[in-house]
Amino acid sequence: MTTVLALETSCDETAVAILRAGDDRSQELLASEIASQVAAHEKFGGIVPEIASRNHLIYAPQLLGRAVTAARIDFSEADAFAATSGPGLASSLMIGASIAKGLAIGFGKTYLAINHLEGHLLSPFFHGADGGEQIKPNVSLIVSGGHTMSVLVRGLTEYQLIGRTLDDAAGEAFDKVAKMLGLGYPGGPEIEKRARVGDSNRFDLPRSMRDSENFSFSGLKTAVRYLLPKIEERRLTQAPYKLDERVLADLCASFQQAIIDVLVTKTIAAAQKHHVDLVTVSGGVSCNQELRRQLGEACRRAGFDLKTAESWLCTDNAAMIAFAALLRLQAGFQSKLTEEIDPNLALVT
Ligand code: KG4
Ligand code: ZN
Repeated sequence: MTTVLALETSCDETAVAILRAGDDRSQELLASEIASQVAAHEKFGGIVPEIASRNHLIYAPQLLGRAVTAARIDFSEADAFAATSGPGLASSLMIGASIAKGLAIGFGKTYLAINHLEGHLLSPFFHGADGGEQIKPNVSLIVSGGHTMSVLVRGLTEYQLIGRTLDDAAGEAFDKVAKMLGLGYPGGPEIEKRARVGDSNRFDLPRSMRDSENFSFSGLKTAVRYLLPKIEERRLTQAPYKLDERVLADLCASFQQAIIDVLVTKTIAAAQKHHVDLVTVSGGVSCNQELRRQLGEACRRAGFDLKTAESWLCTDNAAMIAFAALLRLQAGFQSKLTEEIDPNLALVT
């Protein structure tokens, strides 16, 4: 039996998970606790790093207690303590990494520093309570608030970058456009809700860098910014705009479709180029039902299987970090206690 306790504190979610593998390598998620800070940051329209790290300090010990109680284990029964070591906010990463290192030192166990992006990347192979499965070669689309990239995955730790955003991440574009429209944070779910009843053909918005493997979303965001005063026949400086419900729904649908078109087209092209059978998608933006539906359709037409992470595993959580840590531990990896957090940690170097 191998048991891993993992912490995730890279941004504004504090999370702790405990994952156990049996000797036959079957897995069981014994606990997954999460404390969302959305309410604390919402009024600022984005994440305030100092508030995030102060809250991690408050929530992490509470979640650790809840997790071991739910898992009915003692800390001493864990074989390894893992934490997200980057990328993310330095002051937030430090909290989880320090706690995991402290536990590893205190109980004389292994420490594992996990790349947050690897957590997302592997999450489509994890099925929650029933544990996970073997990693198969795939083209992986990671779409979150901080990152947008496609990666060729040959197996655990064998990652090759195909393309990445040169400016805003897809989730960041959702958040920024939502803010412009006077909608709440995080912007993705707010825009998706309105887009459901909107006409995605109403506004003609750009699909950038069509012929590249990289992504760019800041032009799309700027296009929305310049469209708003035209719709309202008001001056640009008069934001935030109060659009009528119909226009708002159509604008949300047109914006969301512009993002989906780019993500789907580039992912299918990458899967064709790299001759894989499987496409995976993960990260907060992959909660988007319309993205899942259209990517599923496109994969089916092009003859690829699609694996999506379960919705609760798309946004930040510690179960995906525990899964990555368990696979790494089983493959013989461990981290030095001197390994530092890295806010700019790359998935592929
Ligand atoms: O993976 P995640 O929780 O955090 C990062 O690692 O960044 O992703 C958060 C991002 C936010 O930008 C949020 O607006 C976006 O995921 N998001 C969505 C949806 N749900 C969350 N974007 C589009 N549609 C959604 N339903
Ligand atoms: Zn994330």
